[in-house]
Amino acid sequence: MFLFQDVMVDWYQNFKRDLPWRNTRNPYKIWLSEIILQQTRVDQGLPYYEKFISHYPTVFELANADEQEILNDWQGLGYYSRARNLHKTAKEIVALYNGVFPDNYQDLLKLTGIGPYTAAAISSFAFDEVKAVVDGNVYRVLSRFYDIEEAIDSTTGKKNFDKLANELIDSTQPATYNQAIMEFGALQCVPVNPNCEICPLRMQCLSFKNKTIALRPVKTKKTKTTLRYFVYEIKVNKSNKFILEKREGKGIWQGLYQFPLKEFVSQVEKDHYIENLKSDFVSKEYKHILSHQRILATFVLGKMEHSDLNANQIEVRIEDFSDFPVPRLMDKFWEENYAVLMN
Ligand code: ADE
Repeated sequence: MFLFQDVMVDWYQNFKRDLPWRNTRNPYKIWLSEIILQQTRVDQGLPYYEKFISHYPTVFELANADEQEILNDWQGLGYYSRARNLHKTAKEIVALYNGVFPDNYQDLLKLTGIGPYTAAAISSFAFDEVKAVVDGNVYRVLSRFYDIEEAIDSTTGKKNFDKLANELIDSTQPATYNQAIMEFGALQCVPVNPNCEICPLRMQCLSFKNKTIALRPVKTKKTKTTLRYFVYEIKVNKSNKFILEKREGKGIWQGLYQFPLKEFVSQVEKDHYIENLKSDFVSKEYKHILSHQRILATFVLGKMEHSDLNANQIEVRIEDFSDFPVPRLMDKFWEENYAVLMN
């Protein structure tokens, strides 16, 4: 007899990747891996997981660490709010739970930094709770297998997919089943051009039958992206120190450092500003794409008009740059240009 759950688990035993967070029941390690893997590919996240486990072997080291140190270790992964939430949640677990993770879905959800997906992942992987994980992979597999037209980003759609996922979960082995369906989505039932010819669900998959694979899952909302126009002014003082400013407030890259930044509302205004500067150095335009924003950034050599620093600015020797967490965009620019600039 065909059983969806058995096909998943059999497939998983044959094709799964050997990943370190799958060989542990330690909720701290599982939590850490899940936060790193949100919006990040496994091959990109893996070295960060190893680094975090070695720098912060338990939730206590993470809770007691400096935020800047954590942001530094996070550098390159993007979505820095994840790193700040990681720190906040670690502190909460130490302060309120003596460093012991709650051992069930409902109590995990009470933590400010832990949402339904992460609570399901920790409670099932670490404590064998029968709770389905529902991530992008799971939405894709289910919407295709049942050829579901309902949008995954509508309120009722989310509810219905969650219900379906929890009806399907193999209650005798929830941890393995949850890993299996996610891995199946990541490796076999991939977003674009999946190889359905070799899929073990091919005969039962309604989307395959109806030729709607490319149309599933359905989303209603298109994410809209904002264009932003940045000019970074590199300023060096008389003693060869660079000005760096810390990004504050809400918005992207909170807590990270950058060269002093001016932002413009249009390309015309930005170009006009750069022209008037008559700078000795103007970089190419860097296009930096975030989930909801496209940033067009140009780096110029600015003039030091006065020695006053704003409250959020500091002067840093070049040798000390690596002590300060910076956005990937800054890092990339610096790597490509520092030889020219240092001349
Ligand atoms: N992506 C999110 N969670 C994952 C996990 N546990 N294994 C592999 N990829 C994942």
